[in-house]
Order: sequence, then structure tokens, then C-alpha cells
Amino acid sequence: MILHDQGVFRLDTDHTTYVLRITQFSHLEHVYYGRRLPEGEDLSVLAHRNSIMTGTSVMYDESDETYCLDNLCLEWSGIGMGDYRMSPCEIVMPGGAYGCDFLYQDHSIVEGTPQMQTLPSSSSLSESQTLVLSLRDRTLDVRVELYYAVYEACDVITRRCVVINGEDKTLSLRRIMSMSIDMPDRNFSLVTFDGGWIKEGNRHDRALAPGIYINSSTTGWSSNRHNAGFILRADDTTEDRGDAYGFNLIYSGNHYGAVELSNHSLVRVQLGINPHCFDYLLNTGNRFETPEAIMTFSGDGLNRMSQQFHDFVNRHVVRGEWKERGRPVLTNNWEATFFRFNHPKLMATARRAKKLGVELFVLDDGWFKGRDDDTAGLGDYAVNKRKLPFGLAGLSRRIHRMGMMFGLWFEPEMVNRNSDLFRAHPEYCLTTPGRAPALSRNQLVLNLCLPAVREYIVENVGRILDECSVDYVKWDCNRHISDAFSPSLDSQGEFFHRYIIGLYEVLDRIFTPRPHILFESCSGGGGRFDPGMLYYMPQTWCSDNTDPVDRLKIQYGTSLCLPIASMGSHVQAARNAGRVTSLAYRADIAMAGTFGYELDPTKLSADELDDIKDINEQFRAWQPLIQQGDFYRLLSPFDSSQYVAWMFVSPDKSEALVQCFTVLAEPNRWDLRVYPRGLDPDALYEVEDWAVELHGDTIMHAGLRLQMFGWDFMSRNLYLKRV
Ligand code: DGJ
Repeated sequence: MILHDQGVFRLDTDHTTYVLRITQFSHLEHVYYGRRLPEGEDLSVLAHRNSIMTGTSVMYDESDETYCLDNLCLEWSGIGMGDYRMSPCEIVMPGGAYGCDFLYQDHSIVEGTPQMQTLPSSSSLSESQTLVLSLRDRTLDVRVELYYAVYEACDVITRRCVVINGEDKTLSLRRIMSMSIDMPDRNFSLVTFDGGWIKEGNRHDRALAPGIYINSSTTGWSSNRHNAGFILRADDTTEDRGDAYGFNLIYSGNHYGAVELSNHSLVRVQLGINPHCFDYLLNTGNRFETPEAIMTFSGDGLNRMSQQFHDFVNRHVVRGEWKERGRPVLTNNWEATFFRFNHPKLMATARRAKKLGVELFVLDDGWFKGRDDDTAGLGDYAVNKRKLPFGLAGLSRRIHRMGMMFGLWFEPEMVNRNSDLFRAHPEYCLTTPGRAPALSRNQLVLNLCLPAVREYIVENVGRILDECSVDYVKWDCNRHISDAFSPSLDSQGEFFHRYIIGLYEVLDRIFTPRPHILFESCSGGGGRFDPGMLYYMPQTWCSDNTDPVDRLKIQYGTSLCLPIASMGSHVQAARNAGRVTSLAYRADIAMAGTFGYELDPTKLSADELDDIKDINEQFRAWQPLIQQGDFYRLLSPFDSSQYVAWMFVSPDKSEALVQCFTVLAEPNRWDLRVYPRGLDPDALYEVEDWAVELHGDTIMHAGLRLQMFGWDFMSRNLYLKRV
């Protein structure tokens, strides 16, 4: 709910309150963000009391020598008026100066979330309200609109901004954040999720120190190096207690999250498009939309904060027919065959998988003409007739006849030099004039700023999807951007952003007419795992690393800011990582996601085949609990390398699944307990396997002892059902 009273705006969600106000000089002051406050109080008294100017402080206006922008908690700031913290905007104004000072003009409160023209955004007609604050520069007709969409039930507020150029000269936007917020420091620590290829999502915590910490990406995508999601937590916050602010961005390009601890002990948090190589020209009368930033606060620890993120993304970012719908158990042939397959081999794999209860067969890389390794064929859409004599349509038909769904891999944004596309249109790929473009995995990036390239992708991918009756698409993207240049642009500073807008246009044109297709995004695993991609594709292949031990960290880390239902996770063959683990262990970890297989089922033993049938049945029984339940992290792989545990609780608390894993077991550790969370304290639960009944409270406080858990790489599932 959004309330306005005498220049004070109060935004309430079920458990949080956000307050801002208009100051006497028309700046927007941030007053409060945190636990929900009692109603009916005059919150303007929480505003900053003017302070005595000290030493080098700059006076904003001669009429009030105590008003200094540097001391204020602001919702937005300009440049050159005495606020020396990083500004959310850096604009070369019509006269060539950077100075700008945005003052409140008016506001509106609308039902729902207004949609953007160029970028994906969250949506809801009946479950959100939006505050739009219009600001204008003190002297020039340059306006900024700040949007605050309030999602009460999810405890989420989103923020974005729009810049409008009313001057008769072009503006140059060098930096324009989606949000900026200042809060008093409470010994905050910043939590980020870092890594790289095959090691995504590693959690890092550090206490804030004076200065600026930047969590950003320059790869062209949201990146596997530093995920866009990050957290600010109080120093004593744990999974179950304490204050945590979570931030994420509905954007798939270069992101920039910055946290500044100022000399006045104020913390400024910003999130938006990375200003790196950014210079956007905004002509007279034009608008520039920033991506939408997600903010959520929990006073009850990180688990609650993650659940809020999960609910929000599942309900208000993911769209289409697969939203909140159980995903099919799949088998993907990549780790089973790599490029070495043919029609009979695929059919044998699919037949065997079908017998095991697998529902979707996915043909990965290697199906185009000339694609026998990663040096050739990308960019072409002719089918490799030697491998697939009946074509894709023939394969798809046979798979469907078996009663399975058919899925197909694409990597539409890329091209090999050894391809018909490159030979015909070398100008389609990214090249810096006068330089040979840099290769990565033997491929170049297509220039999605060019309409002809977008057309080529939409037409060819669309044609195959329709001709071959495809039910699932894995949309891969196996390299970072280099040679960022497009001859179509007046300012190369627009390149990275325009590329992403081009990608979104392509996805829209392919996705919207085919809502029945389940899309999974992938970028060598989690190189582009962000809510922007989840808007088009409800799931993302978390990592190319399918080793279960490594996956514990990757999936655990990813779960902080992104939903379990969006995390692609599959069972690998026993020895793929050189670490031998049991099928049960691999499957239990893969179950905490969309679930499937990356192995050759024709090479499994009779025992393994029997086990997989049971595992699939078990997964289907637990799937609603896993994909729609509340997720709780219990024992972290980042705290101890030995034991990891997490659990799922159904929304009505009638059932729960606790999953526990050893990595390297501790010798002679005879009492290991796990303390479940989120149960109904007064309800009686049966602990399956143990044939005992205990109250939720007892289970949560006394814990469950894990018997026979003394070996490396063991897993244990404890299923609890309300009696
Ligand atoms: C990278 C993906 O993450 C893999 O799963 C596989 O699809 C390969 N690309 C294919 O080239």
C-alpha cells in the first residue's frame, strides 16, 4: 500500500515499510527502510535534523546554512551541489556541464506495475501498486521519473528510472542507475556471489569499510564472475535471524552494484547498468528506461529474504504457460555423447530414458551441418544429414511417438568462422574496425544491434521450432563479448545496452508466439543467470559443472537470490569429475532444482537402472514441494566443507523434505544433528523412515540426529508429514 501525506510517502508491504519525503528544497530524502512500522504515526519526525555545517561541507542554499546534501540520506542525487558520494547519474547536460540537481515536481500512484517499452519488467495487475515521482533539473528541462512498484505479499519493492530530455540539444548519459538509496550504517556486511565458468555462485562476505565496493560485470552478460544479486546484512545476521537487504536486477547485460560507506557513516547502495563504456545519446523529446531493480528486506534472516526473492521471481517475473508449473524430468545427451552421436544412438538413449520414467529428451550441441566439434557450423541451421538422416523432424516425430517431449539446443547469438553464415555475411559478427576479432571457443559473437542479424535468428530458430515440433529449447551462449562495436550506432557507448535490447527483442519474437515451449537459458552454465533471462525463460542451466560436491556450493550460493524452480540441475555419470560418488548422492543434489540427467542411460548397470526408476518416481512425488515450497538453508558448504543441509517446506506446512549431505565426513563424529526450520510448531509430524511422531517445535529445537552418516559423499533425505 502506498500512502502520501504532506510530502511524506509511505510504502508498506506485509512485513516491511519504506519511507521517503520531500525536503524543504524539494530533494527526495530517504527516511526509512526495514521492518513494518505501526500505522498512523507521523514519520516525518524521523527525517534528518539539519546539522551544523562542518569544515569543508558545501552549503546547498545560502538561506539555510545547515542544509548540506552530503549529510542527507537521499533517494536520488545529482552532481555539483555538495553531495560527494557517487551520484546515480552522470549526464552531460546541454551546455556541456555535468552539474545537475533534480527536484521533486509531482507524483502519481497507479494500480499495477507500468510496463517498459524496451526492457523486461515485473508484472502484476492486482498485486502491486506503483508510485511515480517526477523530478526535474533545477534549471534545465531534463526530467527523471522514479518508479517504485510495491508488491505487498512478496515483501518486495522494485525501483527503476526514466530520463526524459525536454531540451533542444542531445544529452549524453554516462551513468544512470536504476536505484540509489542511503541508509545509516549498522555494521553492514556485503554478500556477493562470485566465481567463473564451472564455479558459479560462490558466496563471499566482507564487512563494509569506508570507500566503495563494486560488484559488476563487463563481459556483456550478467556474468558468472559476479552475479547481479547481492545482499547487505547486519553483522550478526544469520540464515534465521537479523536484518538483510537483498538486491537484484532484471537485466542480462553488464550490471553494476555499488555500496559506498561515506565519511558520515551513511551507506549508499546503487544498482543499474554498468557505466563501463556506457555513453547513451538521448535526443530531444526521447526517454531512456533503466532496468528494474528488485529490493527486498527481511528482519528474520537470509532464509526469509531468499524466500521473498523466490516468490517474487516465480510469481511476478516468470511468465507464460510454464510459470509455477512442474517441469518435466529430462535427459540431455551432451555429457553422454558430446558431438559423437547419430540417429540410432539418440533413439537408443531416448528409449532407455523413457523406460526409466524420463519425460523429455533433449538433443544438445552438434546437430547442424559440419558441427562435429566446436570449430564449425555455428550460425547455420541446416541439419547434419549424416548424423540425422531423417532430419530433426524425423527424430522429433519418433520421440513424440514414444510418448516423450522433444527438446533442442541452439546457440543463436554466435557464429563459427567455418560456417556458411560467416562466409556469406562476415559483417554480421562483432569486429572492431581495423582489428581481427578475438575468438573464444572458436566462435565470434553476432551483432544483435543489426536488424538483419535479429531477423536471421528469429526466422531460422522459429522455422526449426515449428517444422520440428520442439517442446523445449536450451538457448546457449558460450562466450563473453569482445570487439564491442556496431557500425549502426552513433555512440559506441550504447553498444552493450543496445545488444541486450536486441537480444530481448529476438526472445520476444520467438517466445511470445510459442508460449507452449519451455525455454532454458544457458551461458556455458550460469554466465547469464539473472531475472532478465528468467522473464523469457523460466529456468537457467546453473553450471557446466555437474559434479555433485561442486554443485553443493553452486546451488546453495545461487539460492540466495534466485529461485530453486529456476535452477537447472542434472545427474551426471559417476566419474565425470574424477570424483566417484553414488547415484543416490548425485540424484539427491540434482533434485534441488529442475532435475534431469546428463549421462548415457544405455551404459548403466541393471541396478542403476532400477534405482533411476525409483529416483524418478520419488522426484515426481516431491516435485511440488521442491519447486513450490519454501526453501531453507540449514548447513552451509561455505562454513564447513563437511556437512551441508537444506530443506523444503510446503506452503501450508503440511510436509517437508530435509536433505543432508556429507562432503568429507569427520572421523568419530557420532552426534550430528540438523535443525529443521519453517514447520508448524504446534503440529505433529511423522518423520518417515523413523516411524516416529514429533511436534514441529520439538523437531526444530531438539533437531534430528543423522544416524549412519559417517562416510564421505553420503546423502540422507528426511521426509516429514503432518499427522
Ligand atoms: C555449454 C553448455 O553449458 C553445455 O551444457 C552444452 O550445451 C555445451 N555448451 C554445448 O556446446
